[in-house]
Amino acid sequence: MAERRIVTYGDPVLREVSEPVEEISQEIKDLVSSMADTLKKANGLGLAAPQVSVLKRVFIVDLSAVDINATLKVFINPEILKTSGEIEMEEGCLSFPGMYQKIRRASEAKVRATDLDGKVFEMEATGIAARAILHEYDHLEGVLFIDHFSPMARALVKGRLRKMAKVS
Ligand code: NI
Repeated sequence: MAERRIVTYGDPVLREVSEPVEEISQEIKDLVSSMADTLKKANGLGLAAPQVSVLKRVFIVDLSAVDINATLKVFINPEILKTSGEIEMEEGCLSFPGMYQKIRRASEAKVRATDLDGKVFEMEATGIAARAILHEYDHLEGVLFIDHFSPMARALVKGRLRKMAKVS
């Protein structure tokens, strides 16, 4: 399956709200397969469909780089059922190459989603898994990790963001 181009900050598609998936069609299976290839090539932990210019409520998380027991997880039409706690962790995003920032998010998240077989599952995540799920979920709402920066951190990256937006 072919890889897809990851869009970077400045591309308006990243600010759109994605549409629910009506059925797990071949098109959706192909999308997930190409997203998995793209994520692997980019050495990322997660990727959402809008990052490859597809406005569908789909994201994938692969924590195998940080957890040897982890496998690729597919989340279709995800819902965040509950979040709790708060923790500051460093985060990056494939749509913001080279940018890393400590940001605050919930430390635990309960999510419900559909997998590629059309089965609905629920998952309670903590640590980096919760972080990745909340980050990718945001993408489906057109929310980006810079939106969680403190005013100070945002002021510091203003120039870099402007430059990024120009070349995207
Ligand atoms: Ni991201």
